[in-house]
Amino acid sequence: MSQNILTVCYLIGSITFILGLKMLSNPASARKGNLLAGAGMAIAILGTIFLYKDVETGEYLHNYEWIFGALLIGGIVGTLAAKKVKMTAMPEMVSLFNGMGGACAALISIEEFNHLSKEIQTNPNPDYIHFIQPTVLIIVVGLIIGSVSFAGSMIAWGKLNGKVKDLSFTGQNILNLLVLASAMGLAGYLVMHPAHSMMLYIILGLSLIYGIFFVMPIGGADMPVVISLLNSFTGVAAACGGFLYNNEVMLTGGILVGAAGTLLTILMCKAMNRSLKNVLIGSFGGNSAKSGGGSSDFGHYKEISLSDTAMIMSYANKVMIVPGYGLAVAQAQHICHELEKILAEKGVDVKYAIHPVAGRMPGHMNVLLAEADVSYDHLLEMEDANEEFSTTDVVLVLGANDVVNPAAKTDPASPIYGMPILDVELAKNIVVNKRSMKPGYAGIENELFFKPKTSMLFGDAKKVLQDLCAEIKNS
Ligand code: TAP
Repeated sequence: MSQNILTVCYLIGSITFILGLKMLSNPASARKGNLLAGAGMAIAILGTIFLYKDVETGEYLHNYEWIFGALLIGGIVGTLAAKKVKMTAMPEMVSLFNGMGGACAALISIEEFNHLSKEIQTNPNPDYIHFIQPTVLIIVVGLIIGSVSFAGSMIAWGKLNGKVKDLSFTGQNILNLLVLASAMGLAGYLVMHPAHSMMLYIILGLSLIYGIFFVMPIGGADMPVVISLLNSFTGVAAACGGFLYNNEVMLTGGILVGAAGTLLTILMCKAMNRSLKNVLIGSFGGNSAKSGGGSSDFGHYKEISLSDTAMIMSYANKVMIVPGYGLAVAQAQHICHELEKILAEKGVDVKYAIHPVAGRMPGHMNVLLAEADVSYDHLLEMEDANEEFSTTDVVLVLGANDVVNPAAKTDPASPIYGMPILDVELAKNIVVNKRSMKPGYAGIENELFFKPKTSMLFGDAKKVLQDLCAEIKNS
């Protein structure tokens, strides 16, 4: 009876994961989707703790002090970390949590192999060894992928918080391939000869080294792509655990994470117009001192005053706001929404143009604006926004830079060449708010700032928007 209830718990867990993931694809339902999947996970975990019976001994789990002790510590650390983390540090947090998932998968493999090793010692006959070989295969696959994901995610975490620097040297890719090939070769050997248990630790060491070497040379702007790829690795490693334990919910969860991570990786590469191979062995964004295609002098830029900006926006029919990383840094999303409402009261049609890689993580701008209760109907995806710029009176670029850089279209020598951008130049007036003429993430100058239709409105986005709102209200 209890095993049937447990199966139902796993079914609920699997279904809620799938529904939750589906709901995550829309900003309006994402929060509920997250809660739903979390509730499903809680049911699956509690079901396992209280209803799981060992097949051989028929015993329920009993070491509750360890289980609940770990749940409590993990729960407290996770909750505090999630509450404290700033939106701009979210990729770091994702990387750290993902690394923990990879480590768990690797530890499961080590633990299960130790069980098998003991069995082999008591029962070393060839039939038994032949019987357990498929299990050893799953164990080593989980070990390699989980350890690569753990080590790679830790390096990615260190890089994102500035503690680890990029490292690349000649022949690095060949060395990486050799390390990986050795780990896989030894894994094959261990599957054939599972009694050679020490081999497992050599495979573990090589996989950890590969994980470090694999992420070390990858440049800053490519980090989210790598994190997403590592995320999919962790999913596959967890699915291996599902195979080992014959646990449906672990298998479903692992496969979903693996598939979602892979799709996200592909989508990000597309949005940045980069192939995955290029991300993994290229170095885009790694050096923020890079200049764009050698052309550093675009002439003079002009500034605009706050009152002039307030005037052209108040008299506009249509205003398009282009949010970027700077808006997140300034935490100016609420005052930005305020500006939208003030302009709307004056009869101005206000929309937001969202670039898929604006900010520092997928969906960053959507999440940021959702925090300020900006209506999803006002958010335009890049393709739709690009169709509307020619009929827009004023584009207000708020802390965005690379995603509106025309070099992506015009300068084949630019490191962002080929990345689709927001064609803000098509609008009648472009006002760019940032604090200085410093470059954005890719470290390159932006010709847009020097165009005749563009005016610079310098200052911290939050302060500028506060002043702009006051100015428009009083006008
Ligand atoms: P960026 O090109 O990084 O430009 C942001 C601009 O914001 C900077 O030029 C900065 O100029 C300005 N800024 C910073 N703090 C500000 C503040 N308090 N007030 C006003 N302005 C401020 O941002 P973007 O246009 O959003 O492009 C994103 C870039 O990150 C792309 O290159 C993309 O490939 C890369 N990237 C994206 C992702 C994802 S998945 N979204 C992940 C990693 C990297 P000042 O210093 O002069 O103020």
